[in-house]
Amino acid sequence: MSHLALTNIGELVTNDPNIAEGPLGILESAAVVIADGLVAWVGSASEVKSVANSDPIDMHGVAVFPGFVDSHTHLVFDGERSAEFAARMSGQPYAAGGIRTTVAATRNATDEKLRNNIQRLQQEMVSCGITSTEIKSGYGLDVATEERSVRVAKEFTDDVTFLGAHVVAPEFSDRADEYVDLVVGEMLTACAPHAKWIDVFCDRGAFTVEQTRRILEAGIAKGLQPRIHAHQLENTNAIGIAVELDCASVDHCTHLTDSDISVLAASNTVATLVPGAEFSTRSSYPRGRDLIDAGAKVALSTDCNPGSSYTTNMPLMIALAVREMKITPAEALSAATLGGAQALRRNDVGRLTVGARADLVALDAPSYIHLAYRPGVPLVSQVWRAGKTVFEVDKRRNHG
Ligand code: NIG
Ligand code: FE
Repeated sequence: MSHLALTNIGELVTNDPNIAEGPLGILESAAVVIADGLVAWVGSASEVKSVANSDPIDMHGVAVFPGFVDSHTHLVFDGERSAEFAARMSGQPYAAGGIRTTVAATRNATDEKLRNNIQRLQQEMVSCGITSTEIKSGYGLDVATEERSVRVAKEFTDDVTFLGAHVVAPEFSDRADEYVDLVVGEMLTACAPHAKWIDVFCDRGAFTVEQTRRILEAGIAKGLQPRIHAHQLENTNAIGIAVELDCASVDHCTHLTDSDISVLAASNTVATLVPGAEFSTRSSYPRGRDLIDAGAKVALSTDCNPGSSYTTNMPLMIALAVREMKITPAEALSAATLGGAQALRRNDVGRLTVGARADLVALDAPSYIHLAYRPGVPLVSQVWRAGKTVFEVDKRRNHG
């Protein structure tokens, strides 16, 4: 049995209120024992020697927390859109149609090129502490490229999402319903075997609530689970259908009424907030504080994509959520770990409890609060996924 023990952890976030008081379940002077890729024991550093069968690694009082669960990414793409960002920063508005620029490049890319791009972005993500990643298609918009997208994504994660309904494909402009026919027909048949989730961008310039219902119901009939992009550009009244169809998550939620918040709070559907998109489109931020106060489940995600949020940095999302949505550092960390797991309906990740996958992040700081307190600083020093080190900073760095 492979065994690893970490001790002298200054602050261990377990996300289990049964382990220690408070929603983050924080243990001080703590230790963790990992066996066969799973958390086998958590407790006090003073007791670890009696349970570990190898010499524990001394963590020198740093903070350790569960690996981030990024429940919303668009990593399958090719192409370059920095000029579009620069234009936006000089005053041009963001529109759903920009997606088509990436579609042209993605259709022309080889599988190898797409694979290399995912690999590059996933390496960035791991270095920021992300250990679980959902990946969407949606830059193919034809049967062959959507199928390639979900197939290549499946090489990297079990949480693959078919997003053929990202925008109407360029060949179908003015024939949106015919494009929906293709999505729920041949495209869904080709993509469903590689995907677990179905998603629709239900917003201005993308798909209507009626089209969204048709697409999600077709996906559900093929065994996929629904999730939805909504209320990013305007309030399209999509929260009702998201909850009615038991979507695992509504993502973006930039424009929400009080009543939308109450409906989400009374549901099983997570509100996934993606502050990188508001940052990169210079928009106002979602009502994170109000969602949490109402009792809604909230997740934080990077929404990594080349158009509206080209970032892999979850600590930056936490800092933005704290600063701009008035949520606390503790709530933000919970949203980026447990919240992401809930948005993917998983309970094997997002927490450090016995039996969970041993996905851990060590910070070069005494408290997780530094994630928001030191915005933009690369504090992640070591990351384990299923008990194996997948990232470690250069040991020569001077820790003072
Ligand atoms: O989540 N909202 C829709 N899709 C992406 C944007 C994609 C793009 O602009 O390329 C998002 O923000
Ligand atoms: Fe998205």
